[in-house]
Amino acid sequence: MKLTSPRGTKDILPDEISLWHEIEQVSRDLFDRYNFDEIRTPIFESTELFTRGIGDNTDIVEKEMYTFEDKGGRSLTLRPEGTASIVRSYLEHNLEHTQTHTKFYYSGPMFRYERPQAGRFRQFHQIGVEHLNTTDPISDAEVIALGIHIFDELGLPDLSVTINSVGCPTCRPVIEERIKQFLGDSITKLCGDCQRRYNEQPLRILDCKKETCRNYLSGMKDIRSSHCQECRDHFEAVLEYLDVLGVEFNIDPKLVRGLDYYTRTTFEIVSNKLGAQNALCGGGRYDYLVESLGGKHTPAVGFAFGEERTVMLLKDLVETYENALKVYMIPLGQPQRCKCFVLENNLRRAGVKCELGTTDNLKAQFKKADRMKAQYVLIFGEEEAERNIGILKNMKTGEQTEVPITKLEKTIKGL
Ligand code: HAM
Repeated sequence: MKLTSPRGTKDILPDEISLWHEIEQVSRDLFDRYNFDEIRTPIFESTELFTRGIGDNTDIVEKEMYTFEDKGGRSLTLRPEGTASIVRSYLEHNLEHTQTHTKFYYSGPMFRYERPQAGRFRQFHQIGVEHLNTTDPISDAEVIALGIHIFDELGLPDLSVTINSVGCPTCRPVIEERIKQFLGDSITKLCGDCQRRYNEQPLRILDCKKETCRNYLSGMKDIRSSHCQECRDHFEAVLEYLDVLGVEFNIDPKLVRGLDYYTRTTFEIVSNKLGAQNALCGGGRYDYLVESLGGKHTPAVGFAFGEERTVMLLKDLVETYENALKVYMIPLGQPQRCKCFVLENNLRRAGVKCELGTTDNLKAQFKKADRMKAQYVLIFGEEEAERNIGILKNMKTGEQTEVPITKLEKTIKGL
């Protein structure tokens, strides 16, 4: 039987990898400009981190975690997201006091046992930021602007920001009571998930994607009318800061998101080209997560975006970001191959991307150079070795020049 990668996972092959590098490079450059520092956390954590952090009643914790017991009997879980791990690290290493600032970023694989479909995988990659210890609405606007900046820099068109506020512990009970009152007896007509959520987390009913449930909720008043004054002021300020930066947004009073830790701002950056899984990036404020993981009250805000979905969009624009082979060397005869091996080594140390051919016939070697999309070919046979030169051929124009071996590095670097 042919072995394949597990369902919901995939290999990222060389013909796609330059898109990944581009996304990672652009993100890293911008994180640096926005003054976020990187943290790398383990791929697995103690299960308790996620049950306490993400919430017992969320889909992630209820159905999607890859949890296992290690040989020492500890319950461990492959991380389904990055926020809880960053908070764990922040508390464990007392980062509030040991770092100059508390703006962090991370990237890497995450794991959720979801039903695979286009844009949804069981192992996927996120890049995210977390700004800890900030109540300032300017921080919410800053992370949203940073997300948009990354996608602008990558050249992704037609994205939009959707934003909402889900309130805080003061006004959340009022919002939840309103939802329950509005639904009244109709709750029995909603889907099984919504019926379960009715008692545990009625807010999540707003987020249900099923047509029937959406219809039942369509007449409900915007939850913002139930917000406390502080939440209203915070939301207004976030919107104003987005306005001054010229970031366009749509308010969606039903944007709740699937993680329990959110308070106040929730947002998504969506693309209409991604089909059902249209969220490229999701985030929001989580003012009580640090506390629920054992720290002191530490408000925070952040986001994560999916690299697979970003690659899907980028692929429509560019196939790859070319990082062409500069020189393909064709030695003719074994002594020349050995000499070319040394030349190649020197060129690589000088920063040139090159590859050494075999001693096959010239025609076969040119075919290989073509396949590798080499910009130049260096032919080095017995006669060239005697004269201490190489023949450098420009593969685009066909032009050939003799280059003294002593000047090879300088000539190639100058091309
Ligand atoms: P999330 O909305 O669950 O948020 O995930 C963020 C992004 O990860 C999504 O918008 C999507 O692009 C990608 N993603 C999620 N699940 C999958 C999947 N199964 N397959 C492919 N891509 C996926 C979080 O994870 C929060 N930790 C974000 C955050 C950071 N909030 C505050 N700080």
